[in-house]
Amino acid sequence: MMLEIQRLSTLALGQILNGRNLDHALTDARKQAKGRLTDHQRASMQDVAYGVLRFRSEIEGMLQQLYTKRQPLPPLDALLMVATYQLLHTRAAQHAVVSHAVEAAAELAGPSSKGFVNGVLRNLLRQKEGLLQQAHETPEGRFNHPGWWIDKVRTQYPDRWEGLLEAAQQHAPMTLRVNRRHNSRDQYQQRLAQAGMQSTVVGNDGLVLGQPVPVGQLPGFDQGDVSVQDASAQYAAELLALHPKQRVLDACAAPGGKTGHLLERGNGLEVWALDQDAGRVRKMETTLSRLKVQAHCQVADATRPDEWWDGVSFDRILLDAPCSGSGVVRRHPDIKWLRRPEDIPALAEAQTRLLDALWPLLRRGGRLVYATCSIFAEENQAQAEAFLGRHADAKEMPIEDPLFDRGQIFPDAMHDGFFYAIFRKV
Ligand SMILES: C[S@@+](CC[C@H](N)C(=O)[O-])C[C@H]1O[C@@H](n2cnc3c(N)ncnc32)[C@H](O)[C@@H]1O
Repeated sequence: MMLEIQRLSTLALGQILNGRNLDHALTDARKQAKGRLTDHQRASMQDVAYGVLRFRSEIEGMLQQLYTKRQPLPPLDALLMVATYQLLHTRAAQHAVVSHAVEAAAELAGPSSKGFVNGVLRNLLRQKEGLLQQAHETPEGRFNHPGWWIDKVRTQYPDRWEGLLEAAQQHAPMTLRVNRRHNSRDQYQQRLAQAGMQSTVVGNDGLVLGQPVPVGQLPGFDQGDVSVQDASAQYAAELLALHPKQRVLDACAAPGGKTGHLLERGNGLEVWALDQDAGRVRKMETTLSRLKVQAHCQVADATRPDEWWDGVSFDRILLDAPCSGSGVVRRHPDIKWLRRPEDIPALAEAQTRLLDALWPLLRRGGRLVYATCSIFAEENQAQAEAFLGRHADAKEMPIEDPLFDRGQIFPDAMHDGFFYAIFRKV
């Protein structure tokens, strides 16, 4: 079955190298398997695809040293990356990885490719240490990010850039958010323990699982007792400082992670949850009905309030803006390869348009919480400062929690990288 995993991972990786996103590529690969994969095999395929993307530059740097006579064409290039990842970072038996890769090569590119794949992988095993050392000589090979990304992080965070890039290569934990309406965080932790699952408290509503599990195994998941959400994302509801019966706008709400949380936390809130993506709004509706909470969900463009707003001001606005995702690379390692440097100013511009369109909808004395899952200053501190410069009636409220550094949460073992700014209308 390793052969099948290698073959399917190679197909998925080939698509990602052509610009497709990881989730879509994996879904296609699973469809190809026509239901023949066990849960364990699906997990292995996912691990391989994630792993290659996590260590892509190191893997490419090693392989390039071995391609002295010719460069392999797709899909052999992807197959060799898959096999290299398996040899370096998994416990799969080396002889099995090599012999299956040779067979997969014959299937994918014809029998004449067998000798080439066999030779490359055997040399890789023989010269592993030297190849690794040389691959690590470039910043890309050492940190497994594109050069422009490394330069940006180094310029913006001269004191911690290496730690930030390294954090992005770690595995993310599975973090839960307990639905306060159904049970307290501590009660739920006990339910987990009774089901044999160890967890650690994070934040007011969060629990980090010792071992990830499929959501179906979480006690009371279908009844809405718990959701999966990173600890940093759980700050949105906190920072909104909700009062009973407030009118709240969640402007970029789908698939509803934060909407669900604020409804669990608030009392008698009237929540408007918008998103411009109809498919994602449907997912949000499913999530909210699982949690047994209600919001006015709408497919709408938040930058065009004339098309959906009834003219009554909001007490609170959450703008969880579309962003680069540079703070969540450990969960989505394809992000660092799919983004282009020119995406960042374009995203910052879209965020500016959203902020400026929504600010007039807030009542005086109300607060707008701006959030991104990014670590890039253009989307975060610089965006917040420019906003304050344009709006004399906006005051930034400090966030006292020691986890934050000028609104930024840096990625660590328990947290995704996130940014929050709270603006009060005076
Ligand atoms: C970071 S995601 C939101 C995640 C969500 N708040 C959660 O916690 O589950 C950003 C969302 O903004 C939506 N979006 C982007 N531009 C928009 C616009 N102009 N109006 C409404 N939604 C928009 C995207 O479709 C995407 O779903």
